Amino acid sequence: MNQKMSSQLSRKDFGNDFRWGTATASFQIEGAVKEDGRGLSIWDTFSRIPGKIKNNDNADVACNFYHLYENDLALAAQLGFKEFRFSISWSRILPAGTGNINRKGIDFYNRLIDQCLQLKITPWITLYHWDLPQALEDRGGWKNREIVNWFQEYTELCTAEFGDRVRNWIILNEPMAVAGLGYTTGLHAPGKKGLFNFLPVVHHLSLCQAEGGRTVRRNVPGAYIGTAVSCSFVKPYTGSLRDKMAAKRADALLNRLFIEPALGLGYPADAFSYLNNIEKYMQPDDREKLQFDFDFIGIQNYFSVVVKHSWLKPVLWLAEVPASRRNAPATAMGWEIDPEGMYQILQQFSKYKGIKDIIVSENGAAFKDVLSNGQIEDSERTAFFQQYLYNILRAKQDGVNVKGYLAWSLTDNFEWAEGYAARFGLVHIDFDTQERTVKNSGKWFADFLNAEK
Ligand code: FCB
Repeated sequence: MNQKMSSQLSRKDFGNDFRWGTATASFQIEGAVKEDGRGLSIWDTFSRIPGKIKNNDNADVACNFYHLYENDLALAAQLGFKEFRFSISWSRILPAGTGNINRKGIDFYNRLIDQCLQLKITPWITLYHWDLPQALEDRGGWKNREIVNWFQEYTELCTAEFGDRVRNWIILNEPMAVAGLGYTTGLHAPGKKGLFNFLPVVHHLSLCQAEGGRTVRRNVPGAYIGTAVSCSFVKPYTGSLRDKMAAKRADALLNRLFIEPALGLGYPADAFSYLNNIEKYMQPDDREKLQFDFDFIGIQNYFSVVVKHSWLKPVLWLAEVPASRRNAPATAMGWEIDPEGMYQILQQFSKYKGIKDIIVSENGAAFKDVLSNGQIEDSERTAFFQQYLYNILRAKQDGVNVKGYLAWSLTDNFEWAEGYAARFGLVHIDFDTQERTVKNSGKWFADFLNAEK
């Protein structure tokens, strides 16, 4: 990667209509978990179980965004971002998941949206960013097909309340993480383990992804509708046929599983025959119901993945070869820094005929930040952003229809099972005092975005 070229990036290279913003998620920032009638989510429950979250952290306060949103939006504006992505906490507006509406929860999102508009920042709503109401988990959560109706009720409410001012909608955030981490390995809430959960959860997520799109389309005239998928460019460890086949299986799971049914291509069982078993959960007409004509697809790419064949891992028959074992550069999460992988994955997605626009709806990096003399000199993070942006620009110049970039994240926050240990923000938070300090990477963005065109 050419470091010199990436540090000379200019905003105008991306064009005047390219959209620049930051992305956040309700549970990771809001705090105020017991205020104003909010119901419990699966993450409240999960983070109370000792040993599930690093340092046994919880998100009871998090960034206190529920109270400090004006301050944080002002910071976003100061850094030059014109788009702000946030998610709705389902249990804040429907404490039991369905039924009774909590007006105070709706009022919060109205204040947040109005404050964005006041600052000339465009709001983007994510409907589901992992914080399922606990009351719905108690009824089977994503394993229960009833969730399609529950999600519909929730989406109807969101569109009715916010659709007059919000045009940009993301239906699901990284459904693969929900199915894989939440219901199969149990590393995320609700902490369910077992392969038998995987396929029904995948199918119900896919159905909601499309049904959610249809509901927003019906209710919000002129909406710009997308869904956000995690993706990683997958490389085989060696050139052996076995490793290549392993890479194809990993690619099917990591990159194709949720986009292909939406495009009408069905589940990618051609590369991973185990997926044929999903037929068990299919009802007549489901294949059609899985399709939705999204206006954009949100690509969330943080790292690339190298895999090899492994006899030790039944079903998948593959193992990841982590960056540390290959002496590859990595972030504090151990995620391989591979800017070229961003270019490759954008190319891969742009080959689908049915994809119209692409928005990079998350990208960013955690590093060990040190606050010293009121400064955070996070040059590694700045270089990360520059190199990834450089590759997004290359892809755009090579014909990929990428229309925007949302950095993860505006501030440090509650990083799921990593608690507060992993810091992804452009703005540092002291979680004892809630003091905000713009990191040097944030200052770089401000210079980049606020430069004269
Ligand atoms: C993504 C999640 C987001 C955050 C980043 C680091 O997978 O969507 O909430 O955790 O990773």
